[in-house]
Formats: sequence, structure tokens, C-alpha cells
Amino acid sequence: MYSEKVMEHFANPRNVGEIEDANAVGQVGNAKCGDIMKMYMKIENNVIEDVKFKTFGCGAAIATSSMATEMVKGKTVDEALQLTNKAVMEALDGLPKEKIHCSVLAEEAIQSAINDYRVRRGEEPLDIKEHAHEH
Ligand code: FES
Repeated sequence: MYSEKVMEHFANPRNVGEIEDANAVGQVGNAKCGDIMKMYMKIENNVIEDVKFKTFGCGAAIATSSMATEMVKGKTVDEALQLTNKAVMEALDGLPKEKIHCSVLAEEAIQSAINDYRVRRGEEPLDIKEHAHEH
């Protein structure tokens, strides 16, 4: 049912935890299942120097968040905003259809954290709903 990569990231998730001096923190809930994801970032000169997550979510949410944090670490804020749940799923060699909604949590949590960063800097928050993801 799950790819080897999904199982591996679920068993050994990367970047789990909190960043105490984070300057970008986002939290989102999954409308489908009620699960929650919190994302912490340390952004410097528009580059995501560090990122960690915590979730009250299922294995697919953990695996996709682990992969998503790996994919945005070291990237610019703009690059991170381009990351879609589809790209994360592809990097994990796919998810079962009924678990696709779980991958949306990481994408939205990254966008939510970046919005927090923008607001802290006095910039306009982005409309997260504008970013299309596959359900
Ligand atoms: Fe809720 Fe997967 S079942 S995130």
C-alpha cells in the first residue's frame, strides 16, 4: 500500500520538533480528518535556514512533512511557496489515493509559516487558498 520511501520517512521522520527562536510559525488543520500540523522556520535573508515540524497526524502526514521539510530547507521563501503536495508525493513515489489529503497539511503549513514571516515583517499575507493542490 505504501512505497518504501513513505515507510522510511514514517519510520525515521526528518526535522521533527520545534525551533525555539523561529521567526516563522504556522499551524494548519486538515478539514478532512481534523489532524493538525505545526511548522517552525528560521528564515534569514529570505532563505529557510532551518525548518521543523510537529504533527498530530497520521503516518502519511508525517512522511509527507518529513519529505517537504527536506525539500524546502536551504531554499528561498519564494521557492518554498512553489512546493506542491503533488511534488512531495512524487518525491515519495506516491501515496494511496485515500491518503492524498494528508499531504496537503505540509504544503499548507509551509505556506502558513511563510505568511507568519511576512506579517512579522509588515508585508501582506498571501492568500493560501490561491495555491492549488491536489486533493
Ligand atoms: Fe489526517 Fe492523514 S488522516 S492527515
